[in-house]
Amino acid sequence: MKSKKVSLSRAKERILSLRREIEKYRHAYHVENKSLVSDAVSDSLKKELFDLEEMYPELISPDSPTQRVAGKPLDAFKKVRHEVPLLSLNDAFSEKDMTDWVERVEKYLKQKVQPEFYLELKLDGIAGELVYENGVLIQCSTRGDGKVGEDVTQNLKTIEAVPLKLESVGSKFPPKADAPRAQKVPRQLIVRGEVFLTTKEFNRINQNLEKKGMKTYANPRNLTAGSVRQLDSKITADRKLDFFAYEIVTDVGQKRHSDEHRILQKFGFKTNPHNRLVESLAGVVKFRNEWEKKRKRLDYEVDGVVVIFDDNKIYDNAGSIGKAPRGAIAYKFSAQEATTRVKDVKIQVGRTGALTPVAIMEPVLVGGVIITHATLHNFDEIGRLGLKVGDTVVISRAGDVIPKITKVLKNLRTGGEEKIS
Ligand code: IVH
Repeated sequence: MKSKKVSLSRAKERILSLRREIEKYRHAYHVENKSLVSDAVSDSLKKELFDLEEMYPELISPDSPTQRVAGKPLDAFKKVRHEVPLLSLNDAFSEKDMTDWVERVEKYLKQKVQPEFYLELKLDGIAGELVYENGVLIQCSTRGDGKVGEDVTQNLKTIEAVPLKLESVGSKFPPKADAPRAQKVPRQLIVRGEVFLTTKEFNRINQNLEKKGMKTYANPRNLTAGSVRQLDSKITADRKLDFFAYEIVTDVGQKRHSDEHRILQKFGFKTNPHNRLVESLAGVVKFRNEWEKKRKRLDYEVDGVVVIFDDNKIYDNAGSIGKAPRGAIAYKFSAQEATTRVKDVKIQVGRTGALTPVAIMEPVLVGGVIITHATLHNFDEIGRLGLKVGDTVVISRAGDVIPKITKVLKNLRTGGEEKIS
């Protein structure tokens, strides 16, 4: 949900405590390998921070979590400087977020834009960059901090879906379907895409690790990251990583993002067959909602849809803000958890006369439904949670069960919270 208008001083205070809390989660996750909250909870707080910084851009600071691209390159690997930085994406969680996004782009460009969007399933793996010289793969790297990544050439070369040599497509770009199998490939080609593991392969590897009494991985993304950053590429080769290409960085004459996908296929890359071009925001919403239901049928994990202005002129002119391009956004599938604030606690009198405390909250999307109320069951529950009015809380809604406050984020308190009597 969009934050409502808050005063500058309130925003300042809230921004600082959100940054501190998000940084704490990040540190625990990336440095200590400990996950304090789910991705959904940290995404939810980051979105609140993003909205507040959008309201008061003068409060954006270079050390804000909204300005960073995760991860520092590991010392064990050679460093690779990315000529064009690898950006991250801002998140959208609702249709309203999507219309706001298009409006932001139009406001920035000072013009109406054609609603032509290229839609890509957002894979939950890690980004990889491949550099080809005269058609030959010479370097593979991770994102790192976006500017400097790690050289993982040996490891990514073990992936069957990564061509070691480009297929020639003739001298014309974008290549025509009937192009002769000519000699020409660009002198240099930089391609980006997602390295990932199928669910089946993830389970197989984890089972083997467990048999050997070794540490297993929480999800395919972590195992992918661990496999790409292996010092022994024989281990990487045993784990059948996969790769979908999604972007050409080099100018090969592409005018549209959809051109890039066609060209990638001609060069011999694997691209996601479910990606689509649509010509309205309604089409974006439909695609996203359909895939939210169908995602279980895929043999890999996706957590949303990447929505990109198909016209590269729009995408390029829109530039970037902080760590993210303006011309693309990640429209996430609905999470089963989110954060919001408790505005009040009311007592509900049941038919039998039983008194049940109910939390009234700022509206928040959980599992695709807007939630404003959560039962607190009884007064012991309030004590257990340590809940006060004004608190930021985690709301969970597993499956179709009723929403529940599962946690109070006490670090986000201002001191103005009120005890529930
Ligand atoms: S970006 C010009 N497409 O999401 C934008 N990113 O990028 C080109 N990710 O960590 C498309 N699947 O690794 C794009 N189909 C996809 C993606 C994707 C996953 C990841 C990417 C990065 C983050 C932001």
